[in-house]
Amino acid sequence: MKVFVTGGAGYIGSVTTERLLDEGDEVVVFDNLERGHRQAVDPRATLIEGDLRDASRICRALRDTRPDAVMHFAAYALVGESMDRPELYFDNNVVGFVNLTQAMLRADTNAIVFSSTCATYGQPERVPISEEEPQRPANPYGESKLMCEKMLFWHQRLHGMRTVALRYFNAAGATAKYGEDHEPETHLIPIVMQAALGRRPSVSVFGEDYDTPDGTCIRDYIHIADLAQAHIRALRANVSGAFNLGNGNGYSVREVVETARAVTGKPIPVETAPRRPGDPPRLIAAAEKARRELGWQPAFPDLRAIVESAWNWHCAHPDGYAA
Ligand code: UFG
Repeated sequence: MKVFVTGGAGYIGSVTTERLLDEGDEVVVFDNLERGHRQAVDPRATLIEGDLRDASRICRALRDTRPDAVMHFAAYALVGESMDRPELYFDNNVVGFVNLTQAMLRADTNAIVFSSTCATYGQPERVPISEEEPQRPANPYGESKLMCEKMLFWHQRLHGMRTVALRYFNAAGATAKYGEDHEPETHLIPIVMQAALGRRPSVSVFGEDYDTPDGTCIRDYIHIADLAQAHIRALRANVSGAFNLGNGNGYSVREVVETARAVTGKPIPVETAPRRPGDPPRLIAAAEKARRELGWQPAFPDLRAIVESAWNWHCAHPDGYAA
């Protein structure tokens, strides 16, 4: 298939592009390289530099390439930033999505796999979280993704578009070539890796007084190679709908640091810091629907394997893609 990957220079888009190409698909990457990295685009892909906020640019790109399907990764994805500057998220994530889907309709591209998030659930009432959990986002990032999910529903119903929303839990880990490099970095595992490499003095643990066994927040970390596989399954399966992507295992911040100490053999100093506003204590996926309907089976459910893959990548790229 010919697949049009927006955000193919980003963390999850780059790995999915690599995996599609490995399976023999043709890939066109559309990315503005604002937060992604040119070096993260697989050389076998065609790169179109462009911004989704530029409606004529995305229209032209889809008209010229006529893909069979779109995988839409390009978005801002920082909860904290979205609380400071919500307008950025409604512009890039929502206006960008509207431009993309309008361009798809014009180019007769009738299938989309969309990167959504567990942040659309907000503070869940029940954990593990199933797809039936009410979606009440607690920040503009989650709200922007929920708005797109709602538009997908109507495109599916009224235009017969095949639409899949994949709600990721905590994407983590790396492949041999591609890994996580954000500036500034806010995610736990790359921060822990930077501390192990001596690139930062310590890791701040945001809150140790949560109602969890060791007092720190619990998350469901999912390997990006498994996320990539889920996208490919969603592309090939003849389904529409929303699917949670997680392992169904929760690990606390302390457990992540302990695992990283064991993997790296480094001391990784930690210090206690205040809670980070908006962090739910426990986010764990119920992801049976993806297993059942997409035939998805995570290959790296173990936190140690996830951290090992991140460590290998960070050792090979201590300065990220900049090196
Ligand atoms: N944490 C620390 N210290 C740090 C960084 C993070 O203690 O230096 C903690 C956080 O407080 C949180 C956990 O580690 O409890 C994981 O934090 P991340 O920032 O790595 O990930 P989040 O769970 O906050 O965010 C992820 C995705 C978002 C998504 C969100 C849904 O990155 O895109 O899950 O809640 F929206």
